[in-house]
Amino acid sequence: MKLTVLAAGPALSMSLGLSLVMFSASASAGDISMGKEKSVTCAGCHGANGIGLSEEFPNLAGQKEAYLVKQLNAFKTGGRQEPTMKAMAASLTESDIQNLAAYYASLSPFARSQSAVAPDMSSGVASGVATAKATKAEFPETVFITMKKAGTVEAFPSETVWQGGPNMLYNAITPDGKTVLATSPSTSAVYVFDAKTGAQRAVITVGKAPKGVKIMPNGQFAYVSNEGSADISVVDLKTLKVVDTIKVAEAPHNVRFTKNGKLAYVTLQGGAGIGVIDTHSRKMTKIIPVPGITGPHNMDLSLDEKTAYVRDFVHHVAVLDLKTGVVKKVITVGNGHGGIDVAPNGKYVATAAIGDNFISVIDTKDLSVKNVIVGNGPHGIRASKDSRWIYVTLTKDNAVAVINARTLTVEKKIAVGAFPFWVAVQGNS
Ligand code: HEC
Repeated sequence: MKLTVLAAGPALSMSLGLSLVMFSASASAGDISMGKEKSVTCAGCHGANGIGLSEEFPNLAGQKEAYLVKQLNAFKTGGRQEPTMKAMAASLTESDIQNLAAYYASLSPFARSQSAVAPDMSSGVASGVATAKATKAEFPETVFITMKKAGTVEAFPSETVWQGGPNMLYNAITPDGKTVLATSPSTSAVYVFDAKTGAQRAVITVGKAPKGVKIMPNGQFAYVSNEGSADISVVDLKTLKVVDTIKVAEAPHNVRFTKNGKLAYVTLQGGAGIGVIDTHSRKMTKIIPVPGITGPHNMDLSLDEKTAYVRDFVHHVAVLDLKTGVVKKVITVGNGHGGIDVAPNGKYVATAAIGDNFISVIDTKDLSVKNVIVGNGPHGIRASKDSRWIYVTLTKDNAVAVINARTLTVEKKIAVGAFPFWVAVQGNS
């Protein structure tokens, strides 16, 4: 490049070219452009330009190259312990690490955070939709949404806001519709609310850094996935006490019960796969590996419960046959982590992508995918009980999008508190 741009004599450009090569060889062991290519899997958290997308994701842009190499190796070998980065680094080769480090070291540390999509895409159809009030027509069941940064829970369609605790993350509603639970990873607790009044009934201490919370179909127990302590707290919903702790593998993220309540599947984001828990003995009986994806994050089941749709935190959905353990297909979706929901009618699977501005809707018949631009930072996603509407939290727009599942268009956006994270719909847990 430089050689052809320079309008100098052949001797001069030769020597300039040579010195350039020597300079870059001594300053960097890695290949910047190959590092850039590889970095698409990192962009969902560390941003498309190496500036972290939210507070928990450090900036990498402009960091010292040798330091980046050292940290990536430390995540890989376990010298530095962090479950998410361990899973990320596990698949990196020595030259991937060199290239990524060279790439991030070459970026400006002074940029603003940029999500994985090109900026012109984010001014798509959806941003033209004005925010409006929620109505009973779009919220036939009561829906509860957590606001991570505001520390609140909001009920729909009434748009009533309840005060919770710090970092309200995942939430769930009991089958009788009376109680709402929400996890707070920073205080290692589950907040319990009266679903009618929003009054706090209890704050229950669970394991370390709880993420997902799910309620058994009979309404007796809640399973809380503790990412930090690699276990599940079993909460008795009558006494509001932790009655058992189930040891699982690294970084459990969320649970999905079977309809009869006999099994609970747990996503092991540390990389192991899907853990199968016998809810009677309260033991993890086996782990089903999910090759082809990085770190199972959230999952849901087909109506016949034979197939699991497993969302990782990079940009994949694995279609997993639970009996044979065969991954039938790996589908590429938006960047970054997000929720996944099999609509109650079984016809489609919707998944969000926090590093992007669209959701992906998968047809369960032929596994074809349609992407719908919804707004920035979609994460929580759930269909209404009649499967007509899809609710999506837009973490960067502080809004909730309501999507018409028949036309796949954004019907409405509702302004909410800071960093809306997860959606619980009564009748679609
Ligand atoms: C799902 C989110 C996520 C993805 C994807 C991800 N990271 Fe990270 N990364 C994190 C978190 C969280 C930390 C902070 C870890 C800690 O607290 O120790 C981190 C830390 C790091 C650090 C250490 C930074 C420092 O200042 O010490 C490096 C280097 C890094 N990541 C590189 C990468 C690379 C390269 C990729 C892609 C191959 C990647 N990460 C993908 C979440 C992610």
